[in-house]
Amino acid sequence: MSLININPTKTTSWKELIKHYEEIKDVQMKSLFLEDSDRKHKMSLQFEDLNFDFSKNRMTEETLDLLTKLAEESKLDDAIKKYFGGDKINVTENRAVLHTALRNIDPKPILVNGHDIMPEVNQTLDKIKGFTNQVVSGEFKGYSGKPFTDIVNIGIGGSDLGPNMVVDALHYYKNHLKTHFVSNIDGDHVSKVLKELNPETTLFVIVSKTFTTQETLTNSETIKKWFLQSATENDIQYNFVAVSTNLEKVKAFGIDEDNIFTMWNWVGGRYSLWSAVGLTISLAIGFDNFRKFLDGAYAMDQHFKNTKFRNNIPVIQAMISIWYNNFFGSESEVVIPYTQYLEKLAPFLQQLSMESNGKSVDRNGEKVDYQTGNIIWGNTGTNVQHAFMQLVHQGTKLIPVDFIGFEESLYGNKDHHQKLMANFYAQAEALFAGKTAEEVHLDMKFTGDSQKINALLPFKVFEGNRPSNAFLIKKLDPRTLGALISSYEHKTFAQGIIWNIYSFDQFGVELGKELANKLLVK
Ligand code: F6P
Repeated sequence: MSLININPTKTTSWKELIKHYEEIKDVQMKSLFLEDSDRKHKMSLQFEDLNFDFSKNRMTEETLDLLTKLAEESKLDDAIKKYFGGDKINVTENRAVLHTALRNIDPKPILVNGHDIMPEVNQTLDKIKGFTNQVVSGEFKGYSGKPFTDIVNIGIGGSDLGPNMVVDALHYYKNHLKTHFVSNIDGDHVSKVLKELNPETTLFVIVSKTFTTQETLTNSETIKKWFLQSATENDIQYNFVAVSTNLEKVKAFGIDEDNIFTMWNWVGGRYSLWSAVGLTISLAIGFDNFRKFLDGAYAMDQHFKNTKFRNNIPVIQAMISIWYNNFFGSESEVVIPYTQYLEKLAPFLQQLSMESNGKSVDRNGEKVDYQTGNIIWGNTGTNVQHAFMQLVHQGTKLIPVDFIGFEESLYGNKDHHQKLMANFYAQAEALFAGKTAEEVHLDMKFTGDSQKINALLPFKVFEGNRPSNAFLIKKLDPRTLGALISSYEHKTFAQGIIWNIYSFDQFGVELGKELANKLLVK
């Protein structure tokens, strides 16, 4: 059964939200905290080692009630059941959406077209496990009999961004294998990577769901040519593996059938890092850590599936995002992790959210007259404080922020970590509280004459009242990362449901591909 289609702007709650917005749009978050000393506690949610504090938002309990009503009127609960249950909710591609099955540990069958997919999912996981163990131990060797030292992931979009982000994020848990990623069709990218490699000890993992993507096939052909300068066609079976749904094309490339890891059309590219697309992750951090990553995501899936909307982290994330996007007119959201290891989180979330919800036609096939997908951007704290944060603090745009911080550092450098986390807290506080003219005056009292103070005053005032969410997580590890990513996936899903759009196709990327191909033929 497919999704129930409801125009969100025609719901009672939407109309009530418009009225409510007029009433509270200028409300000062400072007064909300003064009115309710328990606000932080009431607007924080704990999930395992992850705390989500959404108290610094321009919203009240009434706002949350109305947003919850909107989620209910949009039949989000029905959509969640269909999402996890294997219904073909990717209507335009006539597919189920079951990346959640890839991390599922519940013994109950999950049916697609009446067929339980869990045995295949588990078989593929066993294959990933066996292969990972053989490569890491050195048992599976390159064509000249030497163990592998380097892994190259060749893929683009979902076949690159997810594995690349996670391998970086979990670098602390990495083994001896060096990992490289080739994605861009820019020949300088692949050349730069190959320059550092020895063909005898490098394992190439070609990742392409369709095995038709121009960038991945061109890069793979270039790499094959480079490889064949030192090896023979017969050696490809030792140094190349592939992850794809397109077995025929992979075999035609010369890859041994045993070295093909299957995936399924019910896994969308941007949701595929939990499948064999994550093979490079497993190779880099070992299968046990990969499993912990899946388990963290599974635990968040259960939270999303079974928790009332008011206490449901991904649902709250989605509702806050809709509140700013559709009522305050915010166009973008910035995500700022306070760990260098999450440097690639923003590009990953860009594909996840913008490829999913960048749609302007609703599920009835009609042009929407309200805003949908937001622009996602970001980078790591504290670097961003010396780059774009000026605009977030004092610019003309209202840009909600997601801060992501960790209680413990990985290497235990206390001095650095205290400074890092002081900045994490300080940024949210500065956005929230701002700095009034009186405070600026007080600060400058001893520094100059009053004329100078008055001249500088307007430039030094911070309006404040700028919203942010804060994820405070105990430690960056496979389980917490899995839970965090899963939460953003479900946020994206819930937004798409409320906006009445299809989040799991991506026709918008096709035209550019077609035109590029036409230009090549000319
Ligand atoms: O950019 C479009 C897209 O289809 C993404 O959705 C996908 O992640 C990427 O291309 C790569 O596709 P494939 O894995 O089939 O090579």
